[in-house]
Order: sequence, then C-alpha cells, then structure tokens
Amino acid sequence: MTKTEALAKLAPYGQEHLLKFFDSLTDSEQEQLLSQIESLDLSVLDQLEASHDAKRGTFEPLGALTLEEIEADKEKYRSIGLNAIRSGKAACILLAGGQGSRLGFDHPKGMYNMGINRELYIFQCLFNNLMEVTDEADSYVHIFIMTSEANDTETREFLQENKFFGYSEEYVHFFVQEMAPAIGENKKIILADKASIAMSPNGNGGWFSSLHHAGLVPLLKREGIEWLNVFAVDNVLQRMADPVFIGATINSGCTSGGKVVAKADPQERVGVLCLEDGMPSIVEYYEMTDEMITRRNADGRLAYNYGVILNYLFRTDKLMETLDKKLPLHMAHKKVAYVNDNGDIVKPDEPNAYKFETLVLDMIHMQDSCLAYEVVREKEFAPVKNKDGVDSVVSARELLVKNGVDL
Ligand code: UTP
Repeated sequence: MTKTEALAKLAPYGQEHLLKFFDSLTDSEQEQLLSQIESLDLSVLDQLEASHDAKRGTFEPLGALTLEEIEADKEKYRSIGLNAIRSGKAACILLAGGQGSRLGFDHPKGMYNMGINRELYIFQCLFNNLMEVTDEADSYVHIFIMTSEANDTETREFLQENKFFGYSEEYVHFFVQEMAPAIGENKKIILADKASIAMSPNGNGGWFSSLHHAGLVPLLKREGIEWLNVFAVDNVLQRMADPVFIGATINSGCTSGGKVVAKADPQERVGVLCLEDGMPSIVEYYEMTDEMITRRNADGRLAYNYGVILNYLFRTDKLMETLDKKLPLHMAHKKVAYVNDNGDIVKPDEPNAYKFETLVLDMIHMQDSCLAYEVVREKEFAPVKNKDGVDSVVSARELLVKNGVDL
C-alpha cells in the first residue's frame, strides 16, 4: 500500500492523523505503518455507533438438561459422543489469545505453573484432561489453539519444548486471532508511537473468523469435522471433547450446546443461558432486573439459574452461515499509551481510550438452538483469573486437589 492509498482508506473515517509523522519515518518504519493500515478493519468505527444504540430483546428463561437427567441417560450419550469422536466429527478450539491482565503474568496464561511440589502448567492440565477422553476413545481429536500476535511465538515454542505434554503434535494446530485498534475519546484511533497503531486482541468472539482467515476451514471439511468444542485456556478443570456433552447435544437435535453450572446464589455475577426474542442467548448479570434475578420456578429453582462457563459446542455448518454477520462490540475503557503531537510517548494515569472486544457468548444468539448442559461446578470449573481471591490461582489449586490432582 502506498501513502496515497493509505490516505484514501483513512480519510472517509477521519483518521488521517495516523500518517502525521509519516514523512519523518525511516523506509522500514513507513513500510510497517502502511502494512498496519492496510490490514486495519475500520468497520469498528461504524460499529461503535451501533454498539451505543444496541438494545437487547425480550428475555425468557431457558431450562437445562439437568445433572439428574444426564445421569439417567449417560451411557447412551457417551456412546453417541464416542462414536462422533472416533469418526473424527469433533474437534477442540482452545482460546488462548487473551492478555491475562488480571493475573499479571508476563507470559501466555497457559504457561502458568499451577504446581507446588512439581511443575504442572495450565496447558498441561488441559492436555491431561483431553487425553483422558482420547485414551477412552482410543482416537485423537484435532485441537486448534488460538493465540494472539503478542503470544503466538512463545506459546508455540513452549508447547513444542514440552512435546505437547504427551499429545500428538500432528493433531495440534495454531492460528492467530485478529487485532482491533484502540480508539480515543475523540473517536480517533490511537498512535502508540510514530510508526505504529495501538492494537489489542479483538476478543474471543472472533475465533471462527480468525480460523477462517488462517485458511483452516478446508482442513475442517477434509477431516469431516462437524462439531467444534470451544473453551477458555484458564479453566484448569476444563473437560474438553466431553463425549457425554457431545452425545447429549447431538441427541437433543440442538445446533449448539453450552456447559452451565447452577448459580451459587441469585446474585452471582455470571452470564445466564436463556432465550432472547425466542433465540438462545446469554444475559449478563448486570442486564438482569431484580425480578429476573429472584424469579423461581414451581420446583423452587431459580428461573434464570444456569451460568455459562465458556465451554460451548458449535456446529461447523451453522458457523459458516454466520461468517459474514457482525458480533456486537463490547467496549472497555482502558489506559493506552500514545504519542503526542511532539512525538513523545505518554503513559496516561487515567483511562483515555476504548478497546473493543467481541465475545464468544454472543455467538450463541446466532444459533437456532442451544442445549444448556448442566455440570458439577466443583468438578469442571476452576477459572484462573487472578493471583488470589475469587477465581484465582489459590482457589483453582484447592479445586485441583479436591479432584485428585497432585500439585
Ligand atoms: P478473559 O475474558 O478472561 O480475558 O478471557 P483475558 O485476556 O484472558 O484476561 P484479563 O481479562 O485480561 O485478565 C477468557 C478466555 O478468552 C480468551 C482468553 O485467553 C481466555 O481463554 N481470549 C480473550 C482470547 O482468546 N482472545 C481475546 O482477545 C480475549
């Protein structure tokens, strides 16, 4: 891309300031900036307006396939799920492109050592859990790991050095998620320094389009992969490619599934699987009215009872149909370093910019139907978000020990 072409791209959006220092840059810096501008998705600026106006529809509760119901038909579901795995119809998507800022760990989150007397990395916990399934099925499943530009090399090297913790390398694939620009209060994209735009990972909702851009969809087709099980890197009790979950979802006829846990108490800050205008959706805790929070069914259970744990099953053909649909943008007000008019880099003390993320949970609303599949929280949900306190290394270690894992 030339400077003229860059200007033509930026001008309709009022973003010509990105070229403010262009003439003072070296050749390679100019090239770097132009290639960044070339790949920049400016539609984020159009969506900015739409996100402000985004209105939610009418919510209704959605029941779940409960623990008791699953137990009653477990062997049937397991056999359907194992058949799907053995015939190569299911694959895993590990979302590992996040910045893990709350944990404050300077490496990819999966490299965090949960062990105390031995090394037990988060990635290792996940592969160990997955291998319980692949041993049972006597068949590997493909796992696609989404990284970000910032952590891709380190993630690949770490897993290679550790020989994928015993998993078959042939079945492990990587793809890098896309980035989104940070935008200042004045709707201007932020220049991090004279030659580069401030970018951050665009959230976990972009995984399927990133997988598509990375050219991996033909592999899905070639291998006959019909179901994609998507999950977060930071739940160390995560059950991936769970045959009973896969079997129950296939048996239900639903086009997607979501693992859920019964709320610990009505006020728990968790997104709840429900219906929105008759379609599956997730209502965030802060979007719920008091009436919704406290409403109970005749059996005494909360009507909006089932919180999501970021473990979903999607049908590949349905995802292909949603490729050109835009997910809502979620904005976070953050401190983003920028270059001022003098060319100096300024680190602000207060939030000065918006970062944009799409969320995988919003993809559920694009599906025709979703099976809410209840799991036991203490057995399947140990998120590592913080160093200590709620959802932390400390709480996750306790849960690992309770589940018989040696630390
Ligand atoms: P979180 O929402 O917890 O974000 O991600 P995070 O970046 O890991 O952590 P904080 O908020 O900065 O502390 C939930 C899951 O989604 C993935 C994360 O790696 C994690 O598995 N994720 C998040 C991505 O893959 N890409 C993103 O852009 C954001």
